[in-house]
Amino acid sequence: MCGITGIVTLDSDNIGELLVKCSRKLTYRGYDSVGVAAVREGKVDLRKDVGTVDEVDRLLGLSKMRGDRGIAQLRWATYGAPTKVNAQPHFGCDEVFYGAHNGNIHNYVEYKQELIDAGHKVRSENDGELCVHAVDKYYEQTGDMLEAVRLSTQDLKGAFAYTVGRADQAEIYAVKMGSSLVAGVADGATIVSSDLPSVLPLTSNVIYLADGEMLVLTHDKVRVYRVEDGKKLERPPQRSTVDVHAAEKGGYPHFMLKEINEQPQIAKDVMGVLAGADNEEWLKMIEDSSRLYLVACGSSHNAGILGTYYFNRLAGMPVYHAIGGQFEPMYGNTLDDESLCILVSQSGETKDILNVLNHVRDANLGKTLGVVNVIGSTLMFQADSYIPMACGYEVSVPATKTYFSQTVIFSYLAAKLGERNGHLDRSEAKTFIRSLKDDLPKLAQATIDRTGILTKNLARTLVNVKDLYCLGYGFTDGVAREGALKIKEICYNHCEGMYSSEFKHGPLSIVTRDYPVIFVTTTEDSWMVTNHINEVRARGGRTIIVGEREDRLEPYVDAEGDYLSVPVSNVLLNPLLDVIPLQMLSYFFSVDLGVNPDLPRNLSKTLTVD
Ligand code: M6R
Repeated sequence: MCGITGIVTLDSDNIGELLVKCSRKLTYRGYDSVGVAAVREGKVDLRKDVGTVDEVDRLLGLSKMRGDRGIAQLRWATYGAPTKVNAQPHFGCDEVFYGAHNGNIHNYVEYKQELIDAGHKVRSENDGELCVHAVDKYYEQTGDMLEAVRLSTQDLKGAFAYTVGRADQAEIYAVKMGSSLVAGVADGATIVSSDLPSVLPLTSNVIYLADGEMLVLTHDKVRVYRVEDGKKLERPPQRSTVDVHAAEKGGYPHFMLKEINEQPQIAKDVMGVLAGADNEEWLKMIEDSSRLYLVACGSSHNAGILGTYYFNRLAGMPVYHAIGGQFEPMYGNTLDDESLCILVSQSGETKDILNVLNHVRDANLGKTLGVVNVIGSTLMFQADSYIPMACGYEVSVPATKTYFSQTVIFSYLAAKLGERNGHLDRSEAKTFIRSLKDDLPKLAQATIDRTGILTKNLARTLVNVKDLYCLGYGFTDGVAREGALKIKEICYNHCEGMYSSEFKHGPLSIVTRDYPVIFVTTTEDSWMVTNHINEVRARGGRTIIVGEREDRLEPYVDAEGDYLSVPVSNVLLNPLLDVIPLQMLSYFFSVDLGVNPDLPRNLSKTLTVD
């Protein structure tokens, strides 16, 4: 997945500065290579190389580039290694057409050959280059850029968005075919981009787009057309209320630490959303369903695992959970008219999740309920209804506050449903919901305050550890998996998250003297977890505990820092809090290892590819 930005401006002095400033906000989408194509007096100046925006800017002076229009691209490599020649933007056959894409062109191999056979000069191994050649090809035939963009979509198979221009034309064109794209209209400039944060530094007047739509940008307006028949569409800009400063670090050394620290506020904000009028619609959708699926990837799936436990415990409702790519082969034939797929995605653009959305729609069976953070995302627009995570922008690649918000949402829905279907005693439901609303924000803050220094110290003792386990039992199953995912993702370690009672069925053989195993528990499961701890201790392993302070657990910690204790709370809040020390541990561990936790290698925040 990558990020593209195109700008047309009246002021020809600052195109490079604008493109660098705006596309820096897309860094989370890709940081393998960066490029800018700026057009000045009919000539395209194209500079690109391997590295982040700031690195390539320093190397090639991107922000000093001049011109009145241009395109920037940040790449997360899929087709073609992260090299200079594969960096985007690309030229067409000569230096007249320039363009860049986000997404994947699935018929890359065949189409590249077809273009080469037709005499096109294809220079790279990157599929984005084919978008530029496709426009080049159809412009040859029609002499009309908009029509060339429209016809190019017949050749290019896959999910993508691209932006393209011609050296001798003042406009920039773009098309959305399955990957995100949003536009903006400022005073004397217009912008098209893969995501809202890069539009906001320029303007809050935003145009949201649907798949199968094309754009023409001039310095004063953005015109929208339908790909199907070329018809012009009316799409006036809307005022976005998203805070432009949300995507800034606000004094923290990394976005990840800032986002961890935002969780107490997120608890309040998401409970505010859940108390709103739409909640009746979401509860009814779930109640009316014949079968409930919960589909998500990565951290969102770990949150879904915890959600499954809450639905069982509080509402007596079974949930079939699956990771995005698993859904169709595992449950695809079990959908019926009344089934409901809860699709959980921070970005709302994860391809594996949109595939499920499309599968449900194509089969015309059942409904979809999105749980989504990015307002204006495909999932938000296309699901039958959606619950916003209310987190603001999550910039850091590792998910923290959005995972937290998802778990609050599931626990709340489960308690409400349990109250309504009688599975849960009314007063118990009310007490739990009250504790989510009134206690959780304070408890989350107390957890951050209490475990900050502990996790920092603990991380130092782990710097030479390359391999560890993180185990949970019952409610902490998904929490342990999430902790392990964080450590893998930003510490480049092997850290496996699994069910603690399963550990003895094989993995226990890895334990030798001082081998570290993290146990995550609630107070109601610690009696069982102590059995699993003993099995590790008996083999000389080092045990690190995450949970409330309990006498029965004390004997199993050798050092103060090996017990990451969360504050005393309603036991059903334990799993919501237990994740926080794991997030902080992974953060400090990563920083100690010299990794930038916001931008772990090989990854990207939003995965719009299969
Ligand atoms: O945007 P999504 O919630 O659909 O993203 C899913 C995963 O890619 C994401 O949670 C990923 O696992 C995180 N980077 C983990 O921290």
